[in-house]
Amino acid sequence: MTKSRSLDELSWQGSTPPLKDIQICIPDDIIRLCSTHFNDVEEVTEKLIESNANHGALQTIKDWVQDSLGRIEKAPGVLCYQTKDSKLPDNQLRILYCTIACAMGALNTRYGALFDVKDHYLDYKKEAIPVSKTKASTGFHTDSTAAEYSPDIVGLLSQLANAADLYNWMNKHYPEGVKILSQPIIRDVITPGTVNSLETIRKNKFPVLNISSAGFRFRYMRYWITTGYEKSNTPVPEGLNQALDRIDEYLSVDEHILTFNMERGDMLFVNNAFICHSRTSFEDSPDTGKKRTLVRAWINKSA
Ligand SMILES: [Fe+2]
Repeated sequence: MTKSRSLDELSWQGSTPPLKDIQICIPDDIIRLCSTHFNDVEEVTEKLIESNANHGALQTIKDWVQDSLGRIEKAPGVLCYQTKDSKLPDNQLRILYCTIACAMGALNTRYGALFDVKDHYLDYKKEAIPVSKTKASTGFHTDSTAAEYSPDIVGLLSQLANAADLYNWMNKHYPEGVKILSQPIIRDVITPGTVNSLETIRKNKFPVLNISSAGFRFRYMRYWITTGYEKSNTPVPEGLNQALDRIDEYLSVDEHILTFNMERGDMLFVNNAFICHSRTSFEDSPDTGKKRTLVRAWINKSA
């Protein structure tokens, strides 16, 4: 998706982008269009994903989304669609979110078209499960640890940083780190349904920093790199931990981080090739009995 985009086009140019460059209010007619055409997410999935139909309502929404898509393809790499005061019920929000996601590209349905990110009372440090099923802080990362798959756009979350700027910073101050991180690096295998053998983990390797004809891509989650080397009994390459420390050093500077307070009805989409995301740990309220639920979508753009 970032084909032919230079690092300069991806850069935040020295400061985090202002919210006005990121937030877009969804017009009433788009909200109405979704609620008139679809009764639930299953229907959206059936009509838009499974049949891949040339759906009239989708085309109108596609045309509207198209106007803002440039902001995902290059800097700022982040878009937050807002429903503001419309106070839509959960079901309507999901329909709207799913339809906008479909208008952006092909939805990955590996975990279902939409994936609820909420606490399932699990601990990702005790079993190989996605952190999205826990209430833990994630640390900065990009989505997917599978060598053969990485989504282009991720719909979600709250703290963001620009990896193209991280790359430039590292190239300037620690070029030896860029060299190490551009080599294939092992990741743990956590995708449900995959056989988690030593050999599978050893083969699940790809660079953290990569510039190719497809553009720049950053693929990072430190925890799964560490457990990948541990579980597969593979020696950690020389200098790798120091290079990962440099990434963490960059991501610990407040000025490099865009913190986003999401409100109910906000739909945040980030470019998973050069924007990494994180979230702080959270606790569900025992009083209301309501669980904090974010809804994730993985989207792929055609080249
Ligand atoms: Fe994530």
